[in-house]
Amino acid sequence: MFDIVIRGGLVVLPQGPSRVDLAIGSDGTFHAIGAPSELEGKQIIDADGLVVLPGGIDPHVHIKMEFSKIQKTMDDFYTATVPAAMGGTTSIVEFAIPTEGETTQEALSRRYQEAAGMSLIDYNFHAVVVGHTFAESLAHLRGLKDQGIGTVKVFSAYSDSIGLTLGQIQEVFRICHRENLLPLVHSETESLILKGIADQVAKNNLVPHGHLDSRTALAEADAIRSICAMAADADVPVFIVHVSSADGSAVIRERRLSGQEVYAETCTQYLFLDDNVFWHPNGELWICSPPIRTKDHQEALWKEIKLGTLDLISTDHNSFSREQKALNRDDFRKVPNGIPGLEFRMPILISATLEGRFDWLELAKLTAEAPARIFGMWPRKGIIAVGSDADFLLVDPNGETDLSIGHMATDYSPYEGTARGRIHQTWVRGNCLIKDGEVLVERGYGVRLETPRG
Ligand code: URP
Ligand code: ZN
Ligand code: ZN
Repeated sequence: MFDIVIRGGLVVLPQGPSRVDLAIGSDGTFHAIGAPSELEGKQIIDADGLVVLPGGIDPHVHIKMEFSKIQKTMDDFYTATVPAAMGGTTSIVEFAIPTEGETTQEALSRRYQEAAGMSLIDYNFHAVVVGHTFAESLAHLRGLKDQGIGTVKVFSAYSDSIGLTLGQIQEVFRICHRENLLPLVHSETESLILKGIADQVAKNNLVPHGHLDSRTALAEADAIRSICAMAADADVPVFIVHVSSADGSAVIRERRLSGQEVYAETCTQYLFLDDNVFWHPNGELWICSPPIRTKDHQEALWKEIKLGTLDLISTDHNSFSREQKALNRDDFRKVPNGIPGLEFRMPILISATLEGRFDWLELAKLTAEAPARIFGMWPRKGIIAVGSDADFLLVDPNGETDLSIGHMATDYSPYEGTARGRIHQTWVRGNCLIKDGEVLVERGYGVRLETPRG
């Protein structure tokens, strides 16, 4: 007799969807997978007619973010992770970005405190090295593994605030090689971005569309090319965050085909939105970097997902309000970068699956298995298997989800309309966190995961 049995669902197992039942033990892990009605439990959860998916893992989110005076987001670890769980995300990896004057370790220590007792879902952090405390922070990379951190993020853009020079990034890569850390890189060539911005200023093109015109696909591809070359030189794997263009993903494809260990993600907004958003009367609401591009780029990203060039889909969630975005809407340079989306990634991708763009297994790989494998959570997370944490979703394929309103700490949604499918329940470590939109566990249920590499 098991503690809990999930009965009658179509379960997305690593080998594909199967009609099986799942048994969960008191330790919150899966204890058995059995033929329909074979397993007995003290509590039976009826999943008849539902799809049982591995819980979503979003490895690129910004919560309560502050990296310059105009870049402060509205949420905290509770108000961000409640909607995350409502939207089927069960683990996140956040970026411990140092604020002005803070070192990498100080930012991590502050983040641990901010998340503890607050996060509803499980979490960990990417360490971040920024320009203003570069020298002191390098020394901190040696201590990351002992804290259960396996990743270091650097920005090749944003030279006015948190960006690094290529020379500094090279130094970080060399340490990552020695310390077995995976570097993550925001890849846009700063000098090309600055020239792009200057061009738009000269044309007096400061409206939201000017943001797209200033940050070209060439700048992304150029940065990815040099970042990959530097990673190869330092003999370190590398993860390229938020790939937005045909050109950038083509470089990654070539590198992967040559045998280099390059990982990459794209984000929901680059797959489901296009540059028409910038002609909306409030086009500033969609300003993020790299920018949302034309349909051609969107289609290329879909192809690269199918080819396996892009490992996963994340959100790059940033919860700014309408007011924050609109404050300087007449000058794209002053609009805070980033858009909210943590709650909607899984619903949008479930809908795309129901419309035939993915199968259930592809969906599970892009949203759970790949992030778990790349970011040190596998096989504890990202898979429905005996011994793994019982993190899963019960999805009603016949329901629907309104994308125009959500529960994130903001007053707008970048998406509109209705998605097919509805997340009926979200479970983490054998407990139901959300049932039909209602929160069933206490604030702070989430635990910090240890995710060192190898
Ligand atoms: O526009 C974005 N993406 N802002 C957040 C920081 C980053 O570049 O990931
Ligand atoms: Zn970025
Ligand atoms: Zn980001």
